[in-house]
Amino acid sequence: MVYIRNSFVIRDCDPSRVTEAIAVDEMRHMWWLADLIVKRGGKPVMDHEKLDFGGDDLKGMLEKQIVLETEAIEMYKRMIATIDDPEVVGVMKHALDEERRHRKEFKDRIKKINDL
Ligand SMILES: [Fe+2]
Ligand SMILES: [Fe+2]
Repeated sequence: MVYIRNSFVIRDCDPSRVTEAIAVDEMRHMWWLADLIVKRGGKPVMDHEKLDFGGDDLKGMLEKQIVLETEAIEMYKRMIATIDDPEVVGVMKHALDEERRHRKEFKDRIKKINDL
């Protein structure tokens, strides 16, 4: 939800489109995880903490997005280490790879700003 909002607010085309595309990836991650939960008889919880968008300037938003990717990477690593269900671990490894790529995409955009 942070990425969707930020993709609306960011005025520069390239970082906005990248953030939008990654928001779509995150929606797929939600779908993968919800599918695993429902298949095991659970119900996905949609609660979330208060959203922090990283402010209104591009650098602040990208920095926040990098923090969110790092948190996701750490979360998936912890879960992969503790869960012994191979299907769940397989999905999480796939998501982990994507989070690493997302973080790199955002870091590349910060670098572009810093190089200006
Ligand atoms: Fe994700
Ligand atoms: Fe991500």
